[in-house]
Amino acid sequence: MDKKTIFSGAQPTGYPHLGNYLGAFKNWSSLQDEYNCLYCVVDLHAITVRQVPAELRKASRNLLALYIACGLNPEKNIVYIQSHYTGHAELAWILNCFTYMGELGRMTQFKDKSSKGDTNINAGLFNYPVLQAADILLFGTHLVPVGEDQRQHLELARDVAIRFNNIYGDVFTVPEPYIAKSGAKIKSVTHPERKMSKSDEESSQIILLDAPDVVMRKFKRAVTDSETEIRYDVENKPGVSSLLEIYANTRGISMDDTLVEFDGKNYGYLKTAVGEAVVDIIINPIQARFNELSANPDYLDKVLKENAEKAAYIGNKILRKVKKKVGFIV
Ligand code: TYM
Repeated sequence: MDKKTIFSGAQPTGYPHLGNYLGAFKNWSSLQDEYNCLYCVVDLHAITVRQVPAELRKASRNLLALYIACGLNPEKNIVYIQSHYTGHAELAWILNCFTYMGELGRMTQFKDKSSKGDTNINAGLFNYPVLQAADILLFGTHLVPVGEDQRQHLELARDVAIRFNNIYGDVFTVPEPYIAKSGAKIKSVTHPERKMSKSDEESSQIILLDAPDVVMRKFKRAVTDSETEIRYDVENKPGVSSLLEIYANTRGISMDDTLVEFDGKNYGYLKTAVGEAVVDIIINPIQARFNELSANPDYLDKVLKENAEKAAYIGNKILRKVKKKVGFIV
């Protein structure tokens, strides 16, 4: 009863990768006993970019199955699809009226996306962080486990909550980000100075559903540097440092212990060791469970339906309060 609430989500676009896992999904599983958790497949967010309908449907189911395959217990956590509960969109509209254009214009993710020359710079893309704030605030969320790239969106959610509360009293819980020290910004394997991103070429991402030999090959081709010494130095040796970080995080050991393991070894040895650790500890177990779930669509349908109902039950309490406060007849 006294447990605090966690909310987080991921977009059902592209293929979930090692960054999503180490930055988000892995932490979600580790928090599931201590908190009441809601983990959402945010398909409303996904349509800010044009999607092929049948592919989006498939990606949403697959992502939900992947959440479970990554260790989330659907009996203990509310794992569901955003569009199955209309409360998200309703609260987002209300919060739009409490968010300033200037705030949204400052969001780096919007600036990045809108500067890439795409012609479809729609209002949904601009308002994206408001929907994200609604996701979070709808459930009285205390903690939001995400990767580093979501920090600014969480700041906005906090600002909007505080603004609303200042006008209407304590309606929203002001959420805190939970950004782990390790894994919050996993780097691209081909461009280790930038984060691993779904929008980059596939060779730069370790995709959770890649075949194990593909994962090994991608690690073996990982970009390092022209030196030979294995040392943790993010600024001067981003590629090697990223491999070391992935290894330490995957094995759950400290950087000091990791460096001892690779003392005197060469880059080839490091790449193989990282690839093997990721395949054995992450890729193989996730894929085995994912394949089991994919073979049982009825089970997934049941999870989808039951969990959306549970989310709606919790969300509607806060939504009703918000509607009353702003003057709707409820
Ligand atoms: P999305 O789908 O881009 O990413 C899902 C989660 O993965 C994290 N992540 C990373 N972590 C470490 N290294 C990386 N290279 C890396 N790339 C991605 C993200 O930080 C995220 O935690 N806007 C969100 C989805 C969202 C949401 C929410 C999250 C919608 N509503 C409410 C939290 C709460 C997004 O696009 O995540």
